[in-house]
Amino acid sequence: MSSEKVYVWDLWIRCFHWLLVVLILSAWWTAREGGLLMKYHMFCGYGIGILVFFRLFWGVWGSQSAKFSEFIRGPRIVVRAILELKIRQPEHYLTHNPIGGWVVIAFLLLLVVQFATGLFANDDLFNEGPLYANVTKLTSDWLTWVHHTNFNNLTVLIIIHVLAIFFYRVWKREHLVGAMLSGYKYLRDKNASKIRHGFFLPFATLLLSIAIICVIVNFRFNL
Ligand code: HEM
Ligand code: HEM
Repeated sequence: MSSEKVYVWDLWIRCFHWLLVVLILSAWWTAREGGLLMKYHMFCGYGIGILVFFRLFWGVWGSQSAKFSEFIRGPRIVVRAILELKIRQPEHYLTHNPIGGWVVIAFLLLLVVQFATGLFANDDLFNEGPLYANVTKLTSDWLTWVHHTNFNNLTVLIIIHVLAIFFYRVWKREHLVGAMLSGYKYLRDKNASKIRHGFFLPFATLLLSIAIICVIVNFRFNL
């Protein structure tokens, strides 16, 4: 069956993804180095917070392929998708496949926890999140522990994610990375992909996400 080139990932989703990768790597590196770089760690954390809120909103009113309702599927469909993994041919989904859909949710949940706990974290030295003063030292220490542990979970998910992309490339001969870079996938039929090209809605969504982060941290960015 012939395939057609279809625009599936809008510019905003692609920017969300690759910025997220850069900011997570930067957050990890700056936290590992510690000291004066913690200032930049928090900066990366706020950036990730903005991205996550943006993605949550974009999953509700964004482009077709970005919508949660397009890729969140029930257990029966997920099990079928798992069984179909053995079939050696591209899957041709307009958006994430039913397994990947839940991986997106898992990523967003872990990132929300990572962001939220960071706000109350402390390093027993000079660095503390902007909401540290709102909790006791004991609670802050516990949240700092969650911040560390949750990052390990995030790392495991990232490794699984990258291995899955590699699996699709080698086993299913599907160029998912190319699609996340260019926005285009080869699909069996056009499937009426509705991508929003407008500027106003995504820009307003971005501003809303920035405003929410500002309100959450009470404009105390500790920068
Ligand atoms: C810090 C590391 C990473 C994180 C946190 C991450 C997270 C995510 C998230 C949340 C999505 C869903 C996109 C959306 O719908 O908004 C996604 C999709 C995707 N990611 Fe990553 N990613 C990471 C690294 C990578 C790397 C290194 C690659 C390239 C090898 C990659 C390739 C992709 C591709 C191709 C998709 C689309 C998958 C599909 O078609 O269903 N990611 N990633
Ligand atoms: C959302 C993305 C974030 C990621 C991926 C992340 C990642 C990390 C990691 C890996 C560490 C541990 C470093 C180590 O083991 O030495 C850490 C520590 C820390 N993070 Fe974050 N963080 C994020 C957000 C935040 C935010 C928003 C804040 C506050 C504004 C914050 C404040 C801190 C503090 C104060 C520590 C020091 C804790 C300690 O040394 O025990 N983080 N973060």
